[in-house]
Amino acid sequence: MYRQFQDGTLRHMERGEYLKQLSASSERNKDPILNVLRRVLPDKGLVLEVASGTGQHAVHFAGALPDLTWQPSDVDPGFRASVEAWRAETNLPNIMPPVHLDTTDHPWPIDQADAVINSNMIHIAPWEVCIGLLDGAARLLPEGGILFMYGPYRIGGEHTTDSNAAFDQSLRMRDPSWGIRDLGDVVSEAASRGLEHVETVQMPANNLSVVYRKVGST
Ligand SMILES: C[S@@+](CC[C@H](N)C(=O)[O-])C[C@H]1O[C@@H](n2cnc3c(N)ncnc32)[C@H](O)[C@@H]1O
Repeated sequence: MYRQFQDGTLRHMERGEYLKQLSASSERNKDPILNVLRRVLPDKGLVLEVASGTGQHAVHFAGALPDLTWQPSDVDPGFRASVEAWRAETNLPNIMPPVHLDTTDHPWPIDQADAVINSNMIHIAPWEVCIGLLDGAARLLPEGGILFMYGPYRIGGEHTTDSNAAFDQSLRMRDPSWGIRDLGDVVSEAASRGLEHVETVQMPANNLSVVYRKVGST
């Protein structure tokens, strides 16, 4: 269905076009997330976005933060094609072509980044995908480098709202290996990899932004 071109981009084989997708939730959360990113990301350098999805976030964040270079990625070729469509439409100079990145792979296709960001992935994937993200971020980041994660969490094993509990149930019905993760579990796995939890920010719609900083080598 898709063909990979020499520049790394993916297009529909028959029509030659990029397939742009739109997510309503990404439209809603992109500005609240950007407000946190403005504060926690470095002024310059390379940001690796793990699980870029449609690409709306990548173009929004790269457009608003022109001194950063944005490296989108996703495991899914359809999403990479969508990222490419958004990238082509906005023609921003600071977004790289999306790369295939499965968090559970080792090594990753990118071996250095000044920051890693990831939103709305760890509850819509098996736990190993979260562990892979933490492993990869710990390998890539320099000392002081930031890992930013956004999404819904349980706190102390409990859901924070009835709507999150219902969402969790619907996720587990789709795939028993999915589900809203407990913040303490993620923080403790991160800490064991040298990713120190530095901040949790309450976000709209019962989501959290969680910020980690790489301390020393793992
Ligand atoms: C709900 S979407 C979120 C996309 C985007 N970050 C956003 O917030 O709109 C979940 C994303 O996780 C990606 N994903 C799932 N498993 C993955 C894995 N093992 N490695 C990398 N990405 C993965 C999916 O392909 C999808 O793009």
